[in-house]
Amino acid sequence: MSGTAQIGVTGLAVMGRNLARNFARNGFTVAVHNRTAAKTRALVEEFGEEGTFVAAESPEDFVAALERPRRLVIMVKAGEATDAVIQEFAPLLEKGDVIIDGGNAHFEDTRRRERELRERGIHFVGVGISGGEEGALHGPSIMPGGSAESYESLGPLLERIAAKAPDGTPCVTHVGPDGAGHFVKMVHNGIEYADMQLIAEAYHLLRTVAGYSPEKIAETFRDWNTGRLDSYLIEITAEVLAHVDAATGKPFVDVVEDEAEQKGTGRWTVQIALDLGVPVSGIAEAVFARSLSGHAELREAARSLTGPAANPLGEKEAAAFAAQVEQALYASKIVSYTQGFHQVQAGSQNYDWDVDPGAVAAIWRAGCIIRAAFLDRIRAAYDAQPELPSLLSDKRFGDEIGAAQDDWRAVIVAAARQGVPVPGFSAALAYYDALRAERLPAALTQGQRDFFGAHTYRRTDREGSFHTLWGGDR
Ligand code: NAP
Ligand code: ATR
Repeated sequence: MSGTAQIGVTGLAVMGRNLARNFARNGFTVAVHNRTAAKTRALVEEFGEEGTFVAAESPEDFVAALERPRRLVIMVKAGEATDAVIQEFAPLLEKGDVIIDGGNAHFEDTRRRERELRERGIHFVGVGISGGEEGALHGPSIMPGGSAESYESLGPLLERIAAKAPDGTPCVTHVGPDGAGHFVKMVHNGIEYADMQLIAEAYHLLRTVAGYSPEKIAETFRDWNTGRLDSYLIEITAEVLAHVDAATGKPFVDVVEDEAEQKGTGRWTVQIALDLGVPVSGIAEAVFARSLSGHAELREAARSLTGPAANPLGEKEAAAFAAQVEQALYASKIVSYTQGFHQVQAGSQNYDWDVDPGAVAAIWRAGCIIRAAFLDRIRAAYDAQPELPSLLSDKRFGDEIGAAQDDWRAVIVAAARQGVPVPGFSAALAYYDALRAERLPAALTQGQRDFFGAHTYRRTDREGSFHTLWGGDR
Protein backbone atom coordinates (compact mmCIF):
# COMPACT_ATOMS: atom_id res chain seq x y z
CA MET A 1 0.00 0.00 0.00
CA SER A 2 1.25 3.43 -0.88
CA GLY A 3 0.72 6.50 1.28
CA THR A 4 -0.18 10.03 0.21
CA ALA A 5 2.81 12.07 1.36
CA GLN A 6 5.05 13.30 -1.45
CA ILE A 7 7.94 13.77 0.95
CA GLY A 8 8.88 12.75 4.48
CA VAL A 9 11.17 14.39 6.99
CA THR A 10 12.68 12.51 9.91
CA GLY A 11 14.68 14.44 12.52
CA LEU A 12 12.58 17.37 13.66
CA ALA A 13 15.08 19.62 15.44
CA VAL A 14 15.45 23.21 14.20
CA MET A 15 16.45 22.35 10.64
CA GLY A 16 14.14 19.38 10.08
CA ARG A 17 11.00 21.01 11.43
CA ASN A 18 11.57 24.17 9.39
CA LEU A 19 12.25 22.20 6.24
CA ALA A 20 9.08 20.14 6.80
CA ARG A 21 7.09 23.37 7.25
CA ASN A 22 8.64 24.80 4.08
CA PHE A 23 7.50 21.72 2.07
CA ALA A 24 4.01 21.93 3.62
CA ARG A 25 3.70 25.67 2.99
CA ASN A 26 4.51 24.96 -0.64
CA GLY A 27 1.56 22.63 -0.98
CA PHE A 28 3.21 19.23 -0.46
CA THR A 29 1.82 16.60 1.87
CA VAL A 30 4.62 15.95 4.34
CA ALA A 31 5.10 12.89 6.53
CA VAL A 32 6.95 13.82 9.71
CA HIS A 33 8.82 11.62 12.16
CA ASN A 34 11.28 12.04 15.01
CA ARG A 35 13.06 9.54 17.26
CA THR A 36 11.40 11.22 20.24
CA ALA A 37 7.74 11.17 19.19
CA ALA A 38 6.79 14.14 21.37
CA LYS A 39 8.59 16.41 18.89
CA THR A 40 6.49 15.07 16.02
CA ARG A 41 3.29 15.76 17.94
CA ALA A 42 4.52 19.22 18.94
CA LEU A 43 5.25 20.15 15.32
CA VAL A 44 1.80 19.15 14.12
CA GLU A 45 0.07 20.80 17.07
CA GLU A 46 1.96 24.06 16.59
CA PHE A 47 2.12 24.31 12.80
CA GLY A 48 -0.54 21.88 11.53
CA GLU A 49 -2.50 24.80 10.06
CA GLU A 50 0.31 25.67 7.67
CA GLY A 51 -0.31 22.68 5.39
CA THR A 52 -0.88 18.93 5.30
CA PHE A 53 1.25 16.89 7.68
CA VAL A 54 1.02 13.17 8.37
CA ALA A 55 2.45 12.50 11.83
CA ALA A 56 4.16 9.12 12.15
CA GLU A 57 5.22 7.68 15.48
CA SER A 58 7.15 4.66 14.18
CA PRO A 59 9.54 4.17 11.23
CA GLU A 60 7.03 1.69 9.76
CA ASP A 61 4.18 4.23 9.89
CA PHE A 62 6.48 6.88 8.44
CA VAL A 63 7.47 4.74 5.45
CA ALA A 64 3.87 3.64 4.92
CA ALA A 65 2.76 7.28 4.77
CA LEU A 66 4.94 7.99 1.71
CA GLU A 67 3.85 7.73 -1.91
CA ARG A 68 6.10 5.68 -4.24
CA PRO A 69 8.87 6.06 -5.11
CA ARG A 70 9.36 7.14 -1.52
CA ARG A 71 11.34 10.28 -0.80
CA LEU A 72 12.49 10.66 2.76
CA VAL A 73 14.70 13.39 4.13
CA ILE A 74 16.97 12.68 7.09
CA MET A 75 17.75 15.83 9.12
CA VAL A 76 19.61 14.41 12.12
CA LYS A 77 23.02 15.00 13.63
CA ALA A 78 25.75 14.24 11.09
CA GLY A 79 27.89 11.14 11.69
CA GLU A 80 26.77 8.11 13.67
CA ALA A 81 23.19 9.29 14.06
CA THR A 82 22.80 9.49 10.27
CA ASP A 83 24.15 5.93 9.88
CA ALA A 84 21.83 4.69 12.63
CA VAL A 85 18.79 6.25 10.95
CA ILE A 86 19.77 4.82 7.54
CA GLN A 87 20.14 1.36 9.10
CA GLU A 88 16.70 1.72 10.61
CA PHE A 89 14.89 2.84 7.47
CA ALA A 90 16.69 1.10 4.60
CA PRO A 91 15.22 -2.37 5.35
CA LEU A 92 11.73 -0.84 5.13
CA LEU A 93 12.32 0.63 1.66
CA GLU A 94 12.09 -0.76 -1.87
CA LYS A 95 14.11 -0.45 -5.05
CA GLY A 96 13.81 3.05 -6.55
CA ASP A 97 13.08 4.78 -3.24
CA VAL A 98 15.17 7.85 -2.39
CA ILE A 99 16.86 8.66 0.93
CA ILE A 100 17.94 12.28 1.18
CA ASP A 101 20.51 13.30 3.79
CA GLY A 102 20.19 17.03 4.42
CA GLY A 103 22.62 17.10 7.35
CA ASN A 104 26.15 18.45 7.28
CA ALA A 105 27.73 15.11 6.37
CA HIS A 106 31.33 14.70 5.32
CA PHE A 107 31.25 14.01 1.57
CA GLU A 108 33.35 10.84 2.01
CA ASP A 109 30.60 9.45 4.29
CA THR A 110 28.07 10.38 1.63
CA ARG A 111 30.11 8.54 -1.03
CA ARG A 112 30.20 5.44 1.17
CA ARG A 113 26.48 5.56 1.98
CA GLU A 114 25.56 6.15 -1.66
CA ARG A 115 27.63 3.15 -2.75
CA GLU A 116 26.16 0.85 -0.10
CA LEU A 117 22.56 1.84 -0.80
CA ARG A 118 23.01 1.75 -4.57
CA GLU A 119 23.86 -1.95 -4.22
CA ARG A 120 20.43 -2.39 -2.63
CA GLY A 121 18.70 -0.42 -5.40
CA ILE A 122 18.02 2.60 -3.17
CA HIS A 123 19.02 6.10 -4.27
CA PHE A 124 20.98 8.04 -1.68
CA VAL A 125 21.17 11.76 -2.18
CA GLY A 126 23.55 13.79 0.00
CA VAL A 127 22.24 17.35 0.01
CA GLY A 128 24.05 20.42 1.26
CA ILE A 129 21.50 22.78 2.76
CA SER A 130 22.62 26.26 3.65
CA GLY A 131 20.89 29.19 5.26
CA GLY A 132 20.42 28.03 8.85
CA GLU A 133 16.95 27.73 10.35
CA GLU A 134 15.60 30.84 8.62
CA GLY A 135 16.75 29.48 5.26
CA ALA A 136 15.24 26.07 5.92
CA LEU A 137 11.86 27.72 6.50
CA HIS A 138 11.82 30.50 3.93
CA GLY A 139 14.11 29.09 1.23
CA PRO A 140 17.63 27.67 1.56
CA SER A 141 20.34 27.27 -1.02
CA ILE A 142 20.26 23.55 -1.84
CA MET A 143 23.18 21.51 -3.15
CA PRO A 144 22.07 17.96 -4.02
CA GLY A 145 24.43 15.20 -5.12
CA GLY A 146 23.36 11.64 -5.98
CA SER A 147 22.27 10.12 -9.26
CA ALA A 148 20.76 12.15 -12.10
CA GLU A 149 17.76 9.80 -11.96
CA SER A 150 17.06 10.66 -8.32
CA TYR A 151 17.20 14.35 -9.17
CA GLU A 152 14.44 13.86 -11.73
CA SER A 153 12.14 12.74 -8.93
CA LEU A 154 13.42 15.15 -6.30
CA GLY A 155 14.34 18.26 -8.29
CA PRO A 156 10.80 19.64 -8.78
CA LEU A 157 10.15 19.51 -5.02
CA LEU A 158 13.46 21.14 -4.14
CA GLU A 159 12.94 23.86 -6.73
CA ARG A 160 9.68 24.82 -5.01
CA ILE A 161 11.20 25.18 -1.53
CA ALA A 162 14.58 26.70 -2.50
CA ALA A 163 15.51 30.36 -2.18
CA LYS A 164 14.99 32.36 -5.35
CA ALA A 165 17.84 34.38 -6.84
CA PRO A 166 17.10 38.01 -7.78
CA ASP A 167 16.26 36.87 -11.34
CA GLY A 168 13.72 34.37 -9.91
CA THR A 169 15.79 31.21 -10.52
CA PRO A 170 15.57 28.64 -7.70
CA CYS A 171 18.85 28.21 -5.82
CA VAL A 172 19.16 24.48 -6.44
CA THR A 173 20.89 22.43 -9.11
CA HIS A 174 22.00 18.83 -9.46
CA VAL A 175 25.62 19.45 -8.45
CA GLY A 176 26.92 16.04 -9.50
CA PRO A 177 26.95 12.34 -8.48
CA ASP A 178 27.39 10.77 -5.02
CA GLY A 179 29.14 13.20 -2.62
CA ALA A 180 29.35 16.22 -4.95
CA GLY A 181 26.60 18.13 -3.13
CA HIS A 182 28.13 17.75 0.31
CA PHE A 183 31.58 18.55 -1.08
CA VAL A 184 30.33 21.82 -2.55
CA LYS A 185 28.52 22.62 0.72
CA MET A 186 31.81 22.04 2.55
CA VAL A 187 33.65 24.47 0.27
CA HIS A 188 30.79 26.94 0.74
CA ASN A 189 31.47 26.85 4.47
CA GLY A 190 35.22 27.24 3.89
CA ILE A 191 34.57 30.36 1.81
CA GLU A 192 32.22 31.54 4.57
CA TYR A 193 35.07 31.25 7.10
CA ALA A 194 37.38 33.25 4.80
CA ASP A 195 34.74 35.94 4.19
CA MET A 196 34.13 36.28 7.93
CA GLN A 197 37.86 36.52 8.68
CA LEU A 198 38.40 39.22 6.04
CA ILE A 199 35.50 41.26 7.38
CA ALA A 200 36.91 40.85 10.90
CA GLU A 201 40.30 42.13 9.73
CA ALA A 202 38.66 45.14 8.05
CA TYR A 203 36.88 45.87 11.35
CA HIS A 204 40.09 45.50 13.35
CA LEU A 205 41.95 47.92 11.05
CA LEU A 206 39.16 50.50 11.11
CA ARG A 207 39.02 50.27 14.89
CA THR A 208 42.78 50.40 15.52
CA VAL A 209 44.37 52.30 12.64
CA ALA A 210 41.46 54.59 11.68
CA GLY A 211 40.36 54.94 15.33
CA TYR A 212 36.67 54.41 14.43
CA SER A 213 34.02 53.43 17.00
CA PRO A 214 31.91 50.29 16.40
CA GLU A 215 28.96 52.53 15.47
CA LYS A 216 31.08 54.41 12.91
CA ILE A 217 32.33 51.10 11.49
CA ALA A 218 28.72 49.88 11.26
CA GLU A 219 27.96 53.02 9.23
CA THR A 220 30.97 52.35 7.00
CA PHE A 221 29.86 48.75 6.39
CA ARG A 222 26.31 49.89 5.61
CA ASP A 223 27.80 52.20 3.02
CA TRP A 224 29.96 49.39 1.56
CA ASN A 225 26.87 47.23 1.41
CA THR A 226 25.40 49.53 -1.22
CA GLY A 227 28.35 48.85 -3.55
CA ARG A 228 30.29 45.87 -4.87
CA LEU A 229 30.61 44.31 -1.39
CA ASP A 230 26.80 44.03 -1.13
CA SER A 231 26.31 40.77 0.80
CA TYR A 232 24.46 39.15 3.68
CA LEU A 233 27.63 38.93 5.80
CA ILE A 234 28.45 42.66 5.44
CA GLU A 235 24.81 43.49 6.22
CA ILE A 236 24.71 41.45 9.44
CA THR A 237 28.18 42.66 10.47
CA ALA A 238 26.84 46.23 10.45
CA GLU A 239 23.96 45.10 12.68
CA VAL A 240 26.24 43.29 15.11
CA LEU A 241 28.54 46.33 15.34
CA ALA A 242 25.67 48.74 15.90
CA HIS A 243 24.22 46.55 18.65
CA VAL A 244 24.55 47.92 22.20
CA ASP A 245 24.64 45.54 25.15
CA ALA A 246 21.55 46.20 27.25
CA ALA A 247 23.19 45.21 30.55
CA THR A 248 26.25 47.49 30.30
CA GLY A 249 25.38 50.08 27.65
CA LYS A 250 28.66 49.17 25.91
CA PRO A 251 29.03 48.15 22.28
CA PHE A 252 28.04 44.46 22.09
CA VAL A 253 31.31 43.60 20.35
CA ASP A 254 33.25 44.85 23.39
CA VAL A 255 31.52 42.57 25.90
CA VAL A 256 31.90 39.32 23.93
CA GLU A 257 34.92 37.05 24.65
CA ASP A 258 37.29 37.31 21.69
CA GLU A 259 37.60 33.54 21.20
CA ALA A 260 35.97 32.24 17.99
CA GLU A 261 34.58 28.72 17.92
CA GLN A 262 34.09 26.30 15.06
CA LYS A 263 32.11 23.20 14.35
CA GLY A 264 34.49 21.79 11.76
CA THR A 265 33.39 22.32 8.17
CA GLY A 266 36.10 24.97 7.60
CA ARG A 267 38.67 22.55 8.92
CA TRP A 268 37.37 19.81 6.59
CA THR A 269 37.73 22.18 3.65
CA VAL A 270 41.39 22.76 4.46
CA GLN A 271 42.10 19.08 5.18
CA ILE A 272 40.63 18.05 1.83
CA ALA A 273 42.37 20.91 0.03
CA LEU A 274 45.68 19.59 1.39
CA ASP A 275 44.82 16.11 0.08
CA LEU A 276 43.88 17.51 -3.32
CA GLY A 277 46.92 19.81 -3.42
CA VAL A 278 44.83 22.97 -3.77
CA PRO A 279 46.24 26.16 -2.18
CA VAL A 280 43.35 27.55 -0.13
CA SER A 281 45.59 29.76 2.01
CA GLY A 282 42.82 32.28 2.77
CA ILE A 283 40.49 29.61 4.15
CA ALA A 284 43.37 28.02 6.08
CA GLU A 285 44.31 31.37 7.65
CA ALA A 286 40.67 31.85 8.66
CA VAL A 287 40.58 28.44 10.37
CA PHE A 288 43.92 29.12 12.09
CA ALA A 289 42.81 32.61 13.17
CA ARG A 290 39.80 31.08 14.98
CA SER A 291 42.05 28.44 16.50
CA LEU A 292 44.63 31.02 17.63
CA SER A 293 41.95 33.19 19.20
CA GLY A 294 40.89 30.22 21.32
CA HIS A 295 44.37 29.62 22.79
CA ALA A 296 43.82 31.84 25.81
CA GLU A 297 46.86 30.46 27.66
CA LEU A 298 49.27 31.13 24.75
CA ARG A 299 47.87 34.62 24.31
CA GLU A 300 48.21 35.33 28.01
CA ALA A 301 51.83 34.15 27.99
CA ALA A 302 52.62 36.42 25.02
CA ARG A 303 50.85 39.53 26.31
CA SER A 304 54.09 41.15 27.57
CA LEU A 305 55.77 40.97 24.13
CA THR A 306 56.42 44.39 22.63
CA GLY A 307 54.95 45.98 19.49
CA PRO A 308 54.22 49.43 18.08
CA ALA A 309 52.03 51.74 20.17
CA ALA A 310 48.55 52.42 18.76
CA ASN A 311 48.61 55.64 16.79
CA PRO A 312 45.21 56.23 15.20
CA LEU A 313 45.01 58.48 12.14
CA GLY A 314 43.41 61.93 12.08
CA GLU A 315 39.84 62.28 10.79
CA LYS A 316 40.71 63.09 7.17
CA GLU A 317 43.41 60.44 6.84
CA ALA A 318 41.09 57.94 8.50
CA ALA A 319 38.44 58.43 5.79
CA ALA A 320 41.05 57.89 3.08
CA PHE A 321 42.32 54.81 4.91
CA ALA A 322 38.79 53.38 5.17
CA ALA A 323 38.47 53.66 1.39
CA GLN A 324 41.75 51.75 1.05
CA VAL A 325 40.45 49.04 3.40
CA GLU A 326 37.42 48.62 1.16
CA GLN A 327 39.78 47.98 -1.76
CA ALA A 328 41.85 45.50 0.27
CA LEU A 329 38.73 43.68 1.43
CA TYR A 330 37.34 43.42 -2.07
CA ALA A 331 40.63 42.23 -3.58
CA SER A 332 41.10 39.64 -0.82
CA LYS A 333 37.53 38.45 -1.32
CA ILE A 334 38.19 37.86 -5.02
CA VAL A 335 41.18 35.71 -3.99
CA SER A 336 39.12 33.69 -1.45
CA TYR A 337 36.51 32.83 -4.05
CA THR A 338 39.24 32.07 -6.59
CA GLN A 339 40.69 29.54 -4.14
CA GLY A 340 37.30 28.09 -3.21
CA PHE A 341 36.27 27.61 -6.84
CA HIS A 342 39.66 26.06 -7.58
CA GLN A 343 38.87 23.51 -4.87
CA VAL A 344 35.41 22.83 -6.34
CA GLN A 345 36.99 22.21 -9.74
CA ALA A 346 39.79 20.04 -8.30
CA GLY A 347 37.26 17.93 -6.37
CA SER A 348 35.13 17.59 -9.47
CA GLN A 349 38.10 16.41 -11.48
CA ASN A 350 39.40 14.06 -8.81
CA TYR A 351 36.06 12.34 -8.22
CA ASP A 352 34.82 12.64 -11.80
CA TRP A 353 31.76 14.71 -10.91
CA ASP A 354 31.61 17.15 -13.81
CA VAL A 355 30.51 20.02 -11.56
CA ASP A 356 29.58 23.24 -13.37
CA PRO A 357 31.22 26.05 -11.34
CA GLY A 358 28.91 28.66 -12.90
CA ALA A 359 25.87 26.70 -11.69
CA VAL A 360 27.39 26.52 -8.19
CA ALA A 361 27.90 30.31 -8.15
CA ALA A 362 24.30 30.70 -9.34
CA ILE A 363 22.80 28.67 -6.46
CA TRP A 364 24.84 30.58 -3.87
CA ARG A 365 23.24 33.88 -4.95
CA ALA A 366 20.42 33.56 -2.42
CA GLY A 367 19.45 31.53 0.64
CA CYS A 368 22.96 30.80 1.93
CA ILE A 369 25.30 32.60 4.30
CA ILE A 370 27.73 33.76 1.59
CA ARG A 371 24.97 35.14 -0.65
CA ALA A 372 26.21 38.28 -2.37
CA ALA A 373 25.74 40.38 -5.48
CA PHE A 374 29.32 39.37 -6.32
CA LEU A 375 28.25 35.75 -7.03
CA ASP A 376 26.24 36.83 -10.04
CA ARG A 377 29.48 38.10 -11.55
CA ILE A 378 31.27 34.83 -10.79
CA ARG A 379 28.44 32.99 -12.51
CA ALA A 380 28.76 35.31 -15.52
CA ALA A 381 32.54 34.73 -15.65
CA TYR A 382 32.12 30.93 -15.76
CA ASP A 383 29.16 31.10 -18.13
CA ALA A 384 31.26 33.16 -20.55
CA GLN A 385 34.21 30.78 -20.22
CA PRO A 386 33.37 27.42 -18.59
CA GLU A 387 37.00 26.26 -18.75
CA LEU A 388 38.29 29.37 -16.95
CA PRO A 389 41.47 28.11 -15.21
CA SER A 390 41.11 30.61 -12.37
CA LEU A 391 38.71 33.41 -11.48
CA LEU A 392 41.73 35.71 -11.57
CA SER A 393 42.08 34.98 -15.28
CA ASP A 394 38.63 36.50 -15.88
CA LYS A 395 39.35 39.90 -17.39
CA ARG A 396 36.91 41.80 -15.22
CA PHE A 397 38.14 40.34 -11.93
CA GLY A 398 41.76 40.65 -13.09
CA ASP A 399 41.27 44.33 -13.91
CA GLU A 400 39.53 45.02 -10.61
CA ILE A 401 42.15 43.35 -8.47
CA GLY A 402 44.88 45.10 -10.45
CA ALA A 403 43.22 48.44 -9.78
CA ALA A 404 42.86 47.65 -6.06
CA GLN A 405 46.40 46.45 -5.49
CA ASP A 406 48.13 49.72 -4.52
CA ASP A 407 45.61 50.33 -1.75
CA TRP A 408 45.67 46.65 -0.78
CA ARG A 409 49.44 46.78 -0.33
CA ALA A 410 49.23 50.09 1.55
CA VAL A 411 46.71 48.61 4.00
CA ILE A 412 48.93 45.60 4.72
CA VAL A 413 51.92 47.93 5.26
CA ALA A 414 49.86 50.07 7.66
CA ALA A 415 48.72 46.93 9.50
CA ALA A 416 52.31 45.71 9.91
CA ARG A 417 53.48 49.17 11.08
CA GLN A 418 50.73 49.41 13.67
CA GLY A 419 50.92 45.77 14.77
CA VAL A 420 47.47 44.69 13.58
CA PRO A 421 47.37 41.02 12.48
CA VAL A 422 45.85 40.63 9.00
CA PRO A 423 46.55 37.00 8.05
CA GLY A 424 43.66 36.86 5.56
CA PHE A 425 44.59 40.06 3.67
CA SER A 426 48.28 39.08 3.66
CA ALA A 427 47.71 35.48 2.52
CA ALA A 428 45.47 36.72 -0.29
CA LEU A 429 48.09 39.21 -1.50
CA ALA A 430 50.85 36.58 -1.29
CA TYR A 431 48.70 34.23 -3.41
CA TYR A 432 48.12 36.98 -5.97
CA ASP A 433 51.82 37.88 -6.14
CA ALA A 434 52.89 34.23 -6.29
CA LEU A 435 50.53 33.39 -9.12
CA ARG A 436 51.60 36.33 -11.25
CA ALA A 437 55.35 35.95 -10.59
CA GLU A 438 57.56 35.20 -13.58
CA ARG A 439 59.89 33.07 -11.41
CA LEU A 440 59.27 31.62 -7.96
CA PRO A 441 61.93 30.58 -5.45
CA ALA A 442 60.61 27.03 -5.87
CA ALA A 443 63.68 26.49 -8.10
CA LEU A 444 65.84 26.91 -5.00
CA THR A 445 63.61 24.51 -3.04
CA GLN A 446 64.18 21.92 -5.77
CA GLY A 447 67.96 22.46 -5.49
CA GLN A 448 67.80 21.88 -1.73
CA ARG A 449 65.71 18.73 -2.17
CA ASP A 450 68.14 17.40 -4.71
CA PHE A 451 71.08 18.23 -2.38
CA PHE A 452 69.85 16.45 0.73
CA GLY A 453 67.67 13.74 -0.74
CA ALA A 454 68.65 13.23 -4.38
CA HIS A 455 65.04 14.05 -5.26
CA THR A 456 66.06 15.29 -8.74
CA TYR A 457 64.85 18.40 -10.57
CA ARG A 458 63.67 19.43 -14.03
CA ARG A 459 65.53 22.06 -16.05
CA THR A 460 64.26 25.09 -17.93
CA ASP A 461 66.37 24.31 -21.00
CA ARG A 462 66.09 20.51 -21.41
CA GLU A 463 63.55 17.70 -20.97
CA GLY A 464 64.08 15.01 -18.35
CA SER A 465 64.98 14.53 -14.67
CA PHE A 466 68.37 15.63 -13.37
CA HIS A 467 70.47 15.04 -10.29
CA THR A 468 73.64 16.94 -9.40
CA LEU A 469 76.53 15.24 -7.60
CA TRP A 470 76.69 17.75 -4.74
CA GLY A 471 80.00 18.23 -2.84
CA GLY A 472 83.03 16.01 -3.33
CA ASP A 473 81.95 12.62 -2.10
CA ARG A 474 78.22 12.65 -2.89
P1 NAP B 1 20.77 18.48 15.39
O1 NAP B 1 20.86 19.03 16.77
O2 NAP B 1 22.03 18.38 14.60
O3 NAP B 1 20.11 17.02 15.43
C1 NAP B 1 19.03 16.73 16.28
C2 NAP B 1 18.09 15.72 15.62
O4 NAP B 1 18.79 14.49 15.39
C3 NAP B 1 16.90 15.40 16.51
O5 NAP B 1 15.79 15.22 15.69
C4 NAP B 1 17.35 14.10 17.16
O6 NAP B 1 16.26 13.32 17.62
C5 NAP B 1 18.04 13.43 16.00
N1 NAP B 1 18.94 12.37 16.39
C6 NAP B 1 20.15 12.48 16.99
N2 NAP B 1 20.69 11.26 17.20
C7 NAP B 1 19.82 10.36 16.66
C8 NAP B 1 19.81 8.93 16.54
N3 NAP B 1 20.84 8.20 16.96
N4 NAP B 1 18.73 8.36 15.95
C9 NAP B 1 17.71 9.10 15.51
N5 NAP B 1 17.66 10.44 15.58
C10 NAP B 1 18.69 11.06 16.16
O7 NAP B 1 19.64 19.27 14.60
P2 NAP B 1 19.71 20.48 13.55
O8 NAP B 1 20.45 21.65 14.09
O9 NAP B 1 18.30 20.67 13.12
O10 NAP B 1 20.57 19.93 12.34
C11 NAP B 1 20.18 18.80 11.59
C12 NAP B 1 21.24 18.54 10.56
O11 NAP B 1 21.30 19.66 9.69
C13 NAP B 1 22.65 18.38 11.12
O12 NAP B 1 23.35 17.41 10.38
C14 NAP B 1 23.27 19.75 10.94
O13 NAP B 1 24.68 19.70 10.85
C15 NAP B 1 22.63 20.17 9.64
N6 NAP B 1 22.56 21.61 9.41
C16 NAP B 1 22.32 22.46 10.44
C17 NAP B 1 22.24 23.83 10.21
C18 NAP B 1 21.97 24.78 11.33
O14 NAP B 1 22.07 25.99 11.09
N7 NAP B 1 21.61 24.31 12.52
C19 NAP B 1 22.38 24.31 8.92
C20 NAP B 1 22.59 23.42 7.87
C21 NAP B 1 22.68 22.07 8.14
P3 NAP B 1 15.71 13.48 19.12
O15 NAP B 1 14.76 14.62 19.10
O16 NAP B 1 15.00 12.19 19.38
O17 NAP B 1 16.88 13.70 20.02
P1 ATR C 1 24.66 27.12 6.75
O1 ATR C 1 24.53 26.09 5.75
O2 ATR C 1 23.44 27.87 6.98
O3 ATR C 1 25.92 27.88 6.52
P2 ATR C 1 25.88 25.45 8.67
O4 ATR C 1 26.79 24.99 7.63
O5 ATR C 1 25.33 24.39 9.54
O6 ATR C 1 24.71 26.29 8.08
O7 ATR C 1 26.57 26.48 9.58
C1 ATR C 1 26.70 27.87 9.32
C2 ATR C 1 27.55 28.45 10.37
O8 ATR C 1 26.83 28.35 11.63
C3 ATR C 1 28.84 27.68 10.48
O9 ATR C 1 29.87 28.63 10.58
C4 ATR C 1 28.58 26.82 11.70
O10 ATR C 1 29.55 26.51 12.60
P3 ATR C 1 31.07 26.83 12.67
O11 ATR C 1 31.31 28.20 12.16
O12 ATR C 1 31.34 26.76 14.13
O13 ATR C 1 31.70 25.76 11.86
C5 ATR C 1 27.55 27.55 12.51
N1 ATR C 1 26.67 26.56 13.13
C6 ATR C 1 25.88 25.67 12.51
N2 ATR C 1 25.18 24.94 13.38
C7 ATR C 1 25.54 25.38 14.60
C8 ATR C 1 25.16 25.00 15.91
N3 ATR C 1 24.27 24.04 16.16
N4 ATR C 1 25.75 25.67 16.94
C9 ATR C 1 26.66 26.65 16.71
N5 ATR C 1 27.06 27.04 15.48
C10 ATR C 1 26.49 26.42 14.44
